[in-house]
Amino acid sequence: MLITQTIQEVRASLAPIRSAGKRIGFMPTLGYMHEGHLKNIDLAKQHADFVVVSIFVNPMQFGPAEDFSGYPRNFERDRRLCESRGTDLIFAPSVSGMYAEPALLTFDIAQMSDHLCGARRPGHFNGVAQVVAKFFNIVQPDIAIFGQKDVQQLFILKRMVADLNFPTKIIAAPTVREPDGLAMSSRNMYLTPEQRSQSSILYQSLQLGKKRVLTGERSAKKIIADMTHLIQTASEARIDYVEIVRASDLQPIEVIDGQAVIALAVYFGKARLIDNIILEIKGDSVNEMNAFV
Ligand code: PAJ
Repeated sequence: MLITQTIQEVRASLAPIRSAGKRIGFMPTLGYMHEGHLKNIDLAKQHADFVVVSIFVNPMQFGPAEDFSGYPRNFERDRRLCESRGTDLIFAPSVSGMYAEPALLTFDIAQMSDHLCGARRPGHFNGVAQVVAKFFNIVQPDIAIFGQKDVQQLFILKRMVADLNFPTKIIAAPTVREPDGLAMSSRNMYLTPEQRSQSSILYQSLQLGKKRVLTGERSAKKIIADMTHLIQTASEARIDYVEIVRASDLQPIEVIDGQAVIALAVYFGKARLIDNIILEIKGDSVNEMNAFV
């Protein structure tokens, strides 16, 4: 496994791979790997001959009151885990290497960032789109993996690739969960044992939402109220949002139909946890979509 820290190094390492006709797969991360990240590396390997993982805590996507400096970092552990899953190259740039100068050009995500996390984290998706666009130009991958757990990120990046004609194909990865349903996240390490045991309420509330749709309820307002009520039974939970939006443009819907995303963000102490499910509703038939390409 190669480890590169500069843009020049990663470009020099990838040039012969590309000229040998190998397909390059890419999985960007903030590091502090968990099994969700590692399953995404497995998925990248199924779609590519050479897998690049980036490890970079991107300051541009953290708000002033967010956990940039406290975000967990452990390069040695990440290196070992990446290697154990057959990663071919790690790209771990420095902040000054990625942002030699403050960027003049920034992204405006328009209505796709008006709701869900975008409404609570101003500038966050601008920072995500910016760093991913830079990575795509540095690595020039054939395919790139993004998790459905961060559904707004996934959908915005799919739009970015379409709007700007990046040749990279985005592949969506299903959410990897703990046995009790909690979506894996580097931020789960912030949870106290009590908060950890209560946090499975998030998955349970999504399942409740799905069950209500399956049994015929179509009012988003009623489903959100039921889910909110359930989450509030966890004494440590502080709801940021529970929303139901249309998959195509992430706008809230009143009547659930077509492809709908049920998404939530809930604080447990200082950990802000997010999760979602995507449902496809056609008349009476309701299917959960497990990450689609
Ligand atoms: P990070 O939170 O480290 O996540 C890296 C990738 O792993 C993202 O595509 C994310 O959706 C995916 N992921 C996280 N938890 C997952 C889980 N439980 N199951 C499956 N996939 C999961 O998301 C970011 O980093 C950053 O915003 C980044 C895209 C790297 C840009 O800086």
